[in-house]
Amino acid sequence: MLRHNGAMSERIIPVVDLRHSLPLPKSAATLFALNHPVQDLRGRALHDLRISVTDRCNFRCSYCMPKEVFHKDYPYLPHSELLTFEEITRTAQAFVALGVRKIRLTGGEPLLRKNIEVLIAQLAALRTPEGWPLDITLTTNGSLLARKAQALKDAGLQRVTVSLDGLDDTIFRQMNDVDFPVADVLAGIKAAQAAGLSHIKVNMVVKRGTNAQEIVPMARHFRGSGVTLRFIEYMDVGATNGWRMDEVLPSARVIEQLKAEWPLVALTASTPGETAQRWGYADAQGQFDPRLGEIGVISSVTQAFCGDCNRARLSTEGQLYLCLFASQGYDLRSLIRGSLTDEALRQQIASIWQGRSDHYSELRSLMPADSNPTPDRKRVEMSYIGG
Ligand code: GTP
Ligand code: 5AD
Ligand code: SF4
Ligand code: SF4
Repeated sequence: MLRHNGAMSERIIPVVDLRHSLPLPKSAATLFALNHPVQDLRGRALHDLRISVTDRCNFRCSYCMPKEVFHKDYPYLPHSELLTFEEITRTAQAFVALGVRKIRLTGGEPLLRKNIEVLIAQLAALRTPEGWPLDITLTTNGSLLARKAQALKDAGLQRVTVSLDGLDDTIFRQMNDVDFPVADVLAGIKAAQAAGLSHIKVNMVVKRGTNAQEIVPMARHFRGSGVTLRFIEYMDVGATNGWRMDEVLPSARVIEQLKAEWPLVALTASTPGETAQRWGYADAQGQFDPRLGEIGVISSVTQAFCGDCNRARLSTEGQLYLCLFASQGYDLRSLIRGSLTDEALRQQIASIWQGRSDHYSELRSLMPADSNPTPDRKRVEMSYIGG
């Protein structure tokens, strides 16, 4: 147990190790044809695989890795516990046979993983059953992007998403809590554009009372820049950020603020299961002007999007999580390190997905604002399974 905010606060944050796993299905529930897409119990396909390549980060955003918990003695995973690049690629290949078409590398901060470009090259060489390459992307805090953008692009990365919570240097330094200057992240975004990474997105987590005043300046900065800015509602993910509903600014309020500055038109989803609702900047005729670009809002607190959630998450040491708010995962690493054939591995993953019914955000939205639909279960940290 750790005391939060030193002696001044009475709030106690339990540090729980949730890294123990669920039993694997005994036998494959339903046989499936090789290279056949699978569906879960709610009819949701498996399309998006998010792979966390490290549980470490050089930032300490209070909504994700608060300093009081993630201090210098925090028990991060030792290197021997991490999946190797070969193990990640083999697992990814099994997922691709089951329908995955998009792979996102996350962390912690994925650019802290040594030789990450080697993994990107291996994943970029994978093909779908139809012979197409995958959509490969990465979520980064941008701190190392200026240095690494070109090598990432050369390795086969197509696009990148950068987390950035404000333009004001003082606010940004407060939010990352390691005094990191905003100029270096902006330089990273420029370097990514210069390297030819396309469809660059910037994700801003909005916390009422902390950085909401940055909404309009951020939109002004990225409007017409070719970068898509997305505003994320602060979520009750993990067990350490001390989430409170009154710190959530509903996306509807964000859109109101932006509409007061510029005309916006609603755009349709570009892919099924998309996390963001898209809005386009309009021209003088009220039509979407692609040169001005678009913004997005990700409203998992006020408008849950579990209905077509097609995302699976592979933790740094090979646990498969079926929901961002799950407490436990399935130990794929023991399977990969065992004597399983590729086909048996696919069968196991298919069985796990076929038994999935997770819809946490939907459940929470049916309950009173500050309640927790799974009070008896401690949720896993986002820095461990990735955004
Ligand atoms: P793109 O293909 O780039 O649009 O990816 P994406 O929309 O999946 O976006 P990204 O990975 O950047 O996710 C943006 C943010 O949405 C994450 O950082 C999370 O805060 C949130 N998010 C992503 N996936 C989920 C999810 O499955 N459930 C919930 N509740 N939030 C999610
Ligand atoms: N609420 C919303 N998004 C979060 N992220 C991490 N923690 C939270 C949270 N509590 C997301 C941010 C960040 C990415 C790495 O994870 O989008 O950009
Ligand atoms: Fe690091 Fe991203 Fe978490 Fe911030 S939100 S602590 S940058 S992993
Ligand atoms: Fe998917 Fe879980 Fe997020 Fe719902 S809460 S969208 S099921 S990851």
